[in-house]
Amino acid sequence: MKQGADINQKTELVVRKNRELAAILEVSRVLTASFDLEKNLSSTMSTLGSLLEMQRGCVFLLDRLSGELRIVAAHGLTKDNIERGKYRIGEGIVGRVLEKRSPMVIPNIGKEPLFLNRTGSRPEKDGISFLSVPIEFKGEALGVLSVDRIYSKKHGNVDDDLRVLTIVASLIAQFVRLWESYENVEKEKENLKIELKERYSIDNIIGKSDRMQEVFAAVHRVAPTKATVLLRGESGTGKEMIAKAIHYMSTRSKGPFIKFNCASIPEGLLESELFGHEKGAFTGAISSRKGKFELANKGTVFLDEVGDLPLTLQPKILRVLQEREFERVGGEKTIKVDVRIITATSRNLEGYVSQGKFREDLYYRLNVIPIFLPPLRDRGDDLPALIDYFLTKFNNEHDRSVNLDRGALQVLMNYEWPGNVRELENTVERLVIMSTADTITSSNLPDSLSIRRLKGLSRSVSLTTNIEEIERANIRDALEKTGWVQARAAKLLGITPRQIGYKMKKYGMEERD
Ligand SMILES: Nc1ncnc2c1ncn2[C@@H]1O[C@H](COP(=O)(O)OP(=O)(O)OP(=O)(O)O)[C@@H](O)[C@H]1O
Ligand SMILES: [Mg+2]
Repeated sequence: MKQGADINQKTELVVRKNRELAAILEVSRVLTASFDLEKNLSSTMSTLGSLLEMQRGCVFLLDRLSGELRIVAAHGLTKDNIERGKYRIGEGIVGRVLEKRSPMVIPNIGKEPLFLNRTGSRPEKDGISFLSVPIEFKGEALGVLSVDRIYSKKHGNVDDDLRVLTIVASLIAQFVRLWESYENVEKEKENLKIELKERYSIDNIIGKSDRMQEVFAAVHRVAPTKATVLLRGESGTGKEMIAKAIHYMSTRSKGPFIKFNCASIPEGLLESELFGHEKGAFTGAISSRKGKFELANKGTVFLDEVGDLPLTLQPKILRVLQEREFERVGGEKTIKVDVRIITATSRNLEGYVSQGKFREDLYYRLNVIPIFLPPLRDRGDDLPALIDYFLTKFNNEHDRSVNLDRGALQVLMNYEWPGNVRELENTVERLVIMSTADTITSSNLPDSLSIRRLKGLSRSVSLTTNIEEIERANIRDALEKTGWVQARAAKLLGITPRQIGYKMKKYGMEERD
């Protein structure tokens, strides 16, 4: 008879131990299920409830700022209960557990005056035991874990429960620490991002990609100085935009910004355009006139396509750079100016230097601070933002509300944009103007965009023939669309009228065919 009772007890013990183990295992599983503090802790509390019949499990964590213990997760408590469950260190049972760093058990909360029942969640307190253990990590108190328990015969004793709760509390402590450091890293990342965004943004210039952020950082550094800047990059990458940004972000922003394209004017006229002339300096010089450098006094001169400056003029430019002085054409008087010089080129300046087309001393003088603008194909990250920006811009300008569907966006994303941002800008403007529907799908897009997309896919076949074929197709496409008006076709393609003329000759497309 006695033996039978023994076996029964033993079986009960094994069953109970198994249940405890299963519960601990389940707790460690839910604690690693996500990085959501409240969710994981709530699941932990419901696990204690369902597997071990520990009711009203609560995790209190110490809020270091307020010095208060707050319920972070609770099982079987209403939101209102949770809100009210706040304790100071040393206050109530929970406060004392934290202060003393040792577990406490109230065998019957109905008979315990210390039990504050602040959450108000227990209508009937009699017969309920309350168990509470500290949550500690490496000797530091992080909070308190507590449960209610109505003991019956099938439960173990208080010591068993405290042992299980202590293990669970230590698992919680590890998770809370991990979560805190994860949160800190996330916050730091967020802060860095905000800082970066604040520090490196320029009005109306889109550039979240790393490459553009480097450009923005450089612009912010050089803008306040008087340093000469050389902007380099393919056609349509935004050199002029950046030149203006540097000017408007500098102390000279109230002064003039004078732009001059060194490739746009016949060599004979360049000198007088840049430096001005005196009356009678040459035939037709009926009065004296200021040049760009004089007009830009107290402001900025932007010399675009500086690589195209003829050799004969280069010494005079060098002198302006070094001494900020020159004479007008046909003039004797030395004129002093206060200008900042920003230059830009899409050419291989180093090649020009080695071919003797560009003076080495001038090259070094200009190249003090080079800023490289990446082609659009190297900053795909910026494409969606640019497309969005131009859509908004042209929708406003043309009073439309056109947008792109996913497929159309994908085609634009795949396209290689040889004409860079300018080509993208022109394409979006044309789409906004030409679209009959409000939503553009890939089938509404001009073939040229898809043709070149194929190029990207079959690049390895034969690059030259491919490019030529595609270029020819693109040019024809553009010409067809613009009724063979070369200037308009060039604009569509984001190239110059001269470039399209040259290409048409190359492909034997002189006439409409
Ligand atoms: N990051 C950008 N964000 C918004 N618009 C841009 C950006 N980059 C360029 N653009 C737009 O693209 C067009 C071409 O830019 P910009 O004229 O500055 O290029 P560029 O490098 O001077 O070209 P080119 O060598 O042909 O003179 C402009 O209309 C400009 O507004
Ligand atoms: Mg330009």
